[in-house]
Amino acid sequence: IAVAYTMAVTHPRAGNIGGGGFMMIYHKQSNQFYAVDFREKAPQQAYKDMFLDSEGNVDNQKARFSIYSAGVPGTVAGLESIYNTFGSLPRQRLFQDAIAYAKNGFLIDQDQHKVLEDKKELLRKDKQFRKLFYKKSNNDIIPRKKVVQKNLAKTLTVIQSSGVDGFYKGKVADQFVDFFQQENGLITHQDLTNYQPVWRTPIYGTYKGYDIISMPPPSSGGIALVQLLNILEQKKIDQLKHNSTDYIQSVVEAMKFVYADRAKYLGDQDVVDVPVAKLTDKTYAAEIANKISTQNIIDVSTINPELLDTSESLETTHFSIIDSEGNMVSCTYTLNFAFGNGMIAGKTGVILNNEMDDFVAKPGSPNGFGLLGNEKNEIAANKRMLSSMTPTLVMKNGQPVLITGSPGGSTIITSVAQVLLNVLAFDMRIGQASSAARFHHQWYPDVITIEEQHDGNIVEELKERGYNVKHKSLGITQSIEIDSGNLYGKSDPRNLSSSTKAY
Ligand code: GLY
Repeated sequence: IAVAYTMAVTHPRAGNIGGGGFMMIYHKQSNQFYAVDFREKAPQQAYKDMFLDSEGNVDNQKARFSIYSAGVPGTVAGLESIYNTFGSLPRQRLFQDAIAYAKNGFLIDQDQHKVLEDKKELLRKDKQFRKLFYKKSNNDIIPRKKVVQKNLAKTLTVIQSSGVDGFYKGKVADQFVDFFQQENGLITHQDLTNYQPVWRTPIYGTYKGYDIISMPPPSSGGIALVQLLNILEQKKIDQLKHNSTDYIQSVVEAMKFVYADRAKYLGDQDVVDVPVAKLTDKTYAAEIANKISTQNIIDVSTINPELLDTSESLETTHFSIIDSEGNMVSCTYTLNFAFGNGMIAGKTGVILNNEMDDFVAKPGSPNGFGLLGNEKNEIAANKRMLSSMTPTLVMKNGQPVLITGSPGGSTIITSVAQVLLNVLAFDMRIGQASSAARFHHQWYPDVITIEEQHDGNIVEELKERGYNVKHKSLGITQSIEIDSGNLYGKSDPRNLSSSTKAY
């Protein structure tokens, strides 16, 4: 919780109190797993066609970079609920670093400087972003070296002393709602006071004797991860050479089915039916596995590979923790794109998310990650938008094996899956497993996104087999492997290089 509050200050493009996320928890003493959902919700006044223009087309600007793109934030409610259940640090200590960095400033590193440069045209439009994160230089503005967020420090101080009510009620809530009124936005006091995090039953799966514990809807992450691993277990993927052309083809074909099912079946399970048992069932996976072969490519047809070509920086962040008692946390939280919708909510100093774009604005129109969906994930009042975040725990015979998760939008699921495959099927240590080259396919658009560090001939061979292929860095996993009482931590080496590519 202290890490999450601190990253809301020092990693402001994704760490947040104005967004939402998910935390998987293993509580050692009770030997229980918990999946805490603090995903944003659509405001009460949101409605299905709110992002369509007069001709019925999706207005992406409105869906991604307007006051309407912000969902009701869930992070503070989630963190405070977890603190009230399991917290042990005194509140003064819990907020000490976050408040100090907000009040006294934190230093912008090379990676943050690059993202601030990339996002300059958007962020300069917001008076507060311009003032806090940039300074004048000749006729232009450049990122500051040190960022001080005094309003955010005040907001965190109120949360420190008043807990969840410090954000959703009282002065901070007044300031927050004032901003929405001033901008003609939809979020009201009632939206804030009604927000509740949900403690959900995790998604449980198995792969080669390992127990996989991950996030249920409104994230697609857990279901998609377990479905993919089930198919690949059937295909005996571990008998193929890791990252060979046959291996990539087999995994890619499985990914297509998983993302097609994501689009067809998944949404907020509090509002729509989600066939969790079917999608995570090994027999269903066997049916899919039987359709997959290295002899043919399943045609997803009529798909425009260019749709995933976005220059936007798509951000989220993850942390994995195990403490001295053996309790574990895997937490992914986000503002959606880097710096969310590019607005700071008035005097609160809180950066707003643009998570409403994770809904399906119109069937057939992809969101910012190129993802499709149907009415299961259409916009409705108080509904949670579908996510791909995949905070995950792995156990074997009741003992912890792995904690992992990643940012990366739609590529989170496949990045996490490949870390798991590398450790569980190919016996890599987490360092090698995290560094190994990755690939991704999400059914639509029909393209394999592949990292440049794959062996020389792979791309040519995949093209010869008939695939569209493009290069991009995939995921930034943050993992801990636990083996015979030893802990091996790995922060993805893509951390700097990938974010300098603004992804
Ligand atoms: N905003 C990205 C996700 O939740 O999947």
